Amino acid sequence: MRYLTAGESHGPQLTLIVEGLPSHVPFDKKKIDHQLARRQKGYGRGRRMQIEKDQVQILSGVRFGETTGAPVALVVENKDWTHWKKVMSIDPLPEEAEKRRISRPRPGHADLNGAIKYDHRDMRDVLERSSARETTMRVAAGAVARLILEACDIRVGGHVLRIGSVEAKRLDFPWEEWTARAEESPVRCLDPDAEQQMMALIDQAKKEGDSLGGIVEVIVEGVPVGLGSHVHWDRKLDARIAQAIVSINAFKGVEFGIGFEAARRPGSEVHDEIEWSEATGFTRRTNRLGGFEGGMTTGEPIVVRGVMKPIPTLYKPLNSVDIDSKEPFAASIERSDSCAVPAACVVAENVVAWEIACALLEKFPADTLNELKEQLNRYRERVLRF
Ligand SMILES: Cc1cc2nc3c(=O)[nH]c(=O)nc-3n(C[C@H](O)[C@H](O)[C@H](O)COP(=O)(O)O)c2cc1C
Repeated sequence: MRYLTAGESHGPQLTLIVEGLPSHVPFDKKKIDHQLARRQKGYGRGRRMQIEKDQVQILSGVRFGETTGAPVALVVENKDWTHWKKVMSIDPLPEEAEKRRISRPRPGHADLNGAIKYDHRDMRDVLERSSARETTMRVAAGAVARLILEACDIRVGGHVLRIGSVEAKRLDFPWEEWTARAEESPVRCLDPDAEQQMMALIDQAKKEGDSLGGIVEVIVEGVPVGLGSHVHWDRKLDARIAQAIVSINAFKGVEFGIGFEAARRPGSEVHDEIEWSEATGFTRRTNRLGGFEGGMTTGEPIVVRGVMKPIPTLYKPLNSVDIDSKEPFAASIERSDSCAVPAACVVAENVVAWEIACALLEKFPADTLNELKEQLNRYRERVLRF
């Protein structure tokens, strides 16, 4: 499977084309919209999230509630576009272009590098596409992938472990309970004490015109052993997931299982010992490596964390230099969130879901959903008898 996205933050719409989906995947628009709505929530988000209620339009590849096997095209309208028609005009509007030109790059954004690289004197030509608005369509792609995962009894969830200086306690709940708690929490945090402290910290950052980053954790349950491969660097699934996470706007790091902590421990406290029983086949006593060995899934849950830097647009602006006058200026302010970690957690879940669905279809190539399920079920039986 593959996908492409197109669209600017204040353009008329965002577009997604997903190619390679098997036929007969039940396609419920409500499930796609549900993921989009989850991305729009979260304590600390700016005003735009109140203006826009993202809803997907399905334009092709789905008929009578199921995929046909043809490319699926989805679009999400930018409701705000009506106010941006002139600024985002496709036809030349020289006066408007000059009046609305942005010449002050914001530190931490793609503005300056993109302007130099693509030779734009108006940085809107960069920021419109580099905006995290694009993650809407990556969530939509993940939501499509989840339709396949759901049919294969694979589930994906996520929660927030840290916002700024506040770290959540590790709490062990059954799947239904922790995912429900994350869903109810305004900051997607399972620890109620940390949740309150995170919200207070966001309020404080907002008051001071500052911003906050954090850490999100994504967990995938039900993956069979052997997705991905050890045989070549670009087939290693943990590496692909790492790329998917770091490709999310503002994500700067990734770790699996105990992650960077592995550097501090001896090997005996890192590797997961192997067990076997008639009922379960091969399992691990622990899951410190987060479900991966040799670029392949071990069959244990995948546990991956991503680190998000604080949002770069600050109401208390950082210093920058005007590209025309070369004079120092306070960086220009686009409407901005003060903390988007809870929303980014939803993006992370969905980019991971996409990678798992792709790996599944690589191992079990299928034109129809039933072909996929039959191969997977046979494989699961073989694994149990191995
Ligand atoms: C869900 C989400 C929402 C974001 N919202 C904003 C925002 O409102 N303002 C902002 O300056 N950056 C925001 N960002 C981060 C920027 O898009 C990102 O830092 C920028 O594109 C530069 O990319 P880089 O940080 O990956 O280098 C957001 C990121 C995500 C994932």
